[in-house]
Order: sequence, then structure tokens, then C-alpha cells
Amino acid sequence: MKITPKKKIHATITVPGDKSISHRSIMIGALAKGTTEIEGFLMGEDCLSTISCFQKLGILIEQQKDKIIVYGKGLHGLTAPTEILDVGNSGTTLRLISGILSAQPFFSHLTGDASIQKRPMERIAVPLRQMGAVLKSNSDKLFAPFTIEGNALKGITYALPMASAQVKSAILLAGLFAKGETIVIEPEPTRDHTEIMLRYMGADIQKIGNEIHCKPVSELYAHKIVVPADISSAAYFIVLGCICENSEIVLKNVGINQTRTGIIDALIAMGAHIHIENETIINGEKTGDIIVTSSQLHGTTIGGAEIPRLIDEIPVLAVAACFAQGTTIIKDAQELKVKESNRIKTIITELKKFGANIAETDDGMIIQGGTPLKGCTVESYQDHRIAMAMAIAGMCASGQTEITGAECVTISFPNFFELLNKKL
Ligand code: S3P
Repeated sequence: MKITPKKKIHATITVPGDKSISHRSIMIGALAKGTTEIEGFLMGEDCLSTISCFQKLGILIEQQKDKIIVYGKGLHGLTAPTEILDVGNSGTTLRLISGILSAQPFFSHLTGDASIQKRPMERIAVPLRQMGAVLKSNSDKLFAPFTIEGNALKGITYALPMASAQVKSAILLAGLFAKGETIVIEPEPTRDHTEIMLRYMGADIQKIGNEIHCKPVSELYAHKIVVPADISSAAYFIVLGCICENSEIVLKNVGINQTRTGIIDALIAMGAHIHIENETIINGEKTGDIIVTSSQLHGTTIGGAEIPRLIDEIPVLAVAACFAQGTTIIKDAQELKVKESNRIKTIITELKKFGANIAETDDGMIIQGGTPLKGCTVESYQDHRIAMAMAIAGMCASGQTEITGAECVTISFPNFFELLNKKL
């Protein structure tokens, strides 16, 4: 994909639906009694993998015009798959579905692509085994491909060793089926879409301080779900609006759940002109229009509890930091090493090709902003967020940029380049 820099962008954009909420709408819809109608579903590869896995578990899922319809069969309606469940590139699918499959009275075999096979699954195996499930792979620590022998589970109290919404969600989904209460203790708050949607569909979930309590219920009940636009996809255009001169970009109906808005807070702390209008709440999720105008950014330090609130936006935040005056430090972000690529390494390697002054640390990076970026050839490592972050860098660099392996944006944002090249 070739990127030609643009000056003076004025646009109103609706980015596709939230990936995290789309996954959950299929999974929780499948476990609910009745028909779940989903509007704004993200038709990206990762969410299509979730649909395909639940179809293999006996759930009828249809597309009707621009809606997805899930014919849920209730909490105990899944049936044994006759094929291997393939999650493709999707860590969220694999970790969350494992929580559900741990409680089923059948055996499942799971796999995924080369990247998923390198991502740590021991983090879900430890609590799910404590609940009574049997998860096995060919290695000491659990990696895909692996098998799950479901069981009658018991509730546990589990303190997460790392802030992870995926691990939290796997345990809570298993907890729906367990005997007794399940309690997850978080070191820092992470995205709470699972809790919000489960409660909306009738589960007994409560947040008490940093603990999430899930008590078993006899059924969940289907309700219509409207998926807001994904703030993680909006983030590319939010940063672009900040770093491109004489510009204004409006992003419509974006999910602004406060566990996800770290990118907005970080950019505002860097001097960005961002404001939100038309706030409303739909199926328990806050949404709004985000308006961003060109801003002279300055460096900042980001770490601790801010990290889970912007973990997926760090690649594009690093691009923003290249255009900020002074130093930006990103710390406590070691989780980046186990994403679709080792994002500490891939961000740094690729931004250096543009001439950025950026250095690796143990748990993040240090960026000296203000050096003008020069267009170049970069690669995606088949990591969608690296491809899109590099496209934003290319939009504000001098000369042309070429991204190899750019087609991987279909994982989370199939029309990204169309919006970037035609709409702006
Ligand atoms: C996600 C949680 C985050 C995030 C991922 C999606 C989710 O991962 O990075 O892209 O939908 O729950 P962790 O919870 O493992 O940090």
C-alpha cells in the first residue's frame, strides 16, 4: 500500500464497530435464550472467526442486510464441534471461548494462525484448571493448538497476575456455569464490556472495588445490541487530526467507555484539541462524537493504570509522540511484547526507518519528538495495528511511504485504506 502525505484534512468519518464488543455480542448472544439482533457488528477477520467457531458449536448465525442475527440456544445449548475450532489471528476469540468451553460437557480442539500459536495461553489455563477444566497442549506451558475437556466447574477467587480483560472475561464466562460464586481481582481496571453485556443479558455480575463478582444464574436472555464505533480504530484518525496541519476530523458514534478512553486522555495531556459531543448510553456502553483539530503536541509520560486503557493504541500514540516537542516515555507496557507482534520491537524498528528518534526500554519506549519523518518502506509483520500506525506516520512524513503486508488491516478495520485514501 502506498501512502501519499496530505495537508489540511477536513472530514467526518464513521469507523467500523468495536472489535471487543462485536466478539462478545456473538458469544453472549449464543449463550442467551432467544434472538440477538446485532447492529454495527464489525465484519473484520477476527470477529468472523468468532462467528465461525460458534457456528461449529451448533449456533445458527445469519447476516440480514447490515445486521447479524444470533439464534441463541440458552446457557446449555452449545453442541460438540465435529471440526477443529480455528480462531485465525484472534486472541480475544481464543481466550474468551476457552472460558465457555471449559464448562461444556464435551471435548474441543482449538487452533489459530502462526501468531496465535506464539501467544501465551497459560494465563487462562491456570485459573480455568483451578475451576476444574482440563486444558492440554504439546508443551509445558499452554500454547495453541490445545484441547479442552469441559467439566462441572466450581467458582474460584482469582487475583489476576497481569491486567488483562481477556483473562478476566474467560474466568467470568466460565463462572456463569460454575457452582458457587466466582471472583476476579484486577491489579488495574481493564475494559469491562463482558461485565456490561452479561449484566444487560441478565447475569448476576457486580463490581466491588477492584473485584468482579459473578454468581451463576439459570439463563441469560437475548436483547438487541448496537455496537458503537471502535475507539481503537478511531484512534488512527484522532492522532492524524492532531498531527496534520490546518485540519479538523469528526468521528461519529464512537464507544467512549472510560476503560477505553486512555488515548484521548493521553493526547489531551500532550496538548491535543479534542472534545466530545452528543454523549449517550446504548446497551450500557457510552458513545459520543469525537472532534479533533490540529494541535502542537508536547511530550508526556504514560504508565501504570493508564496502560490498560490504551494498550492497543500505543503504536499510533508512538507516532503522535514523534510529532510532539520533547520526550515521551511509555512505561509499564510489557504486555505489548505478547500482542499480535512484539509491538515494542515492531513499533521501534519501523519508526526508526522514518528517521524517528526512538529507543527501546524493558517495559516500553522513549521517544524524542520533533525530528521530521521521511517517507520510506515499512512492513506490517502481519500486525494490523502496526500497518495502520505506519500509515498515519506516512500521511505526515515527507515523500511517499510504502507498507508491505498492509492487507492485514482486514483483521480489525477492513475499509481503513479506503477511508484514508478516498474520504480524506
Ligand atoms: C481485548 C483485551 C486486550 C486488548 C485486545 C482485546 C478484549 O487484551 O489488547 O486487543 O477484547 O478483551 P488483554 O486483555 O489481553 O490485555
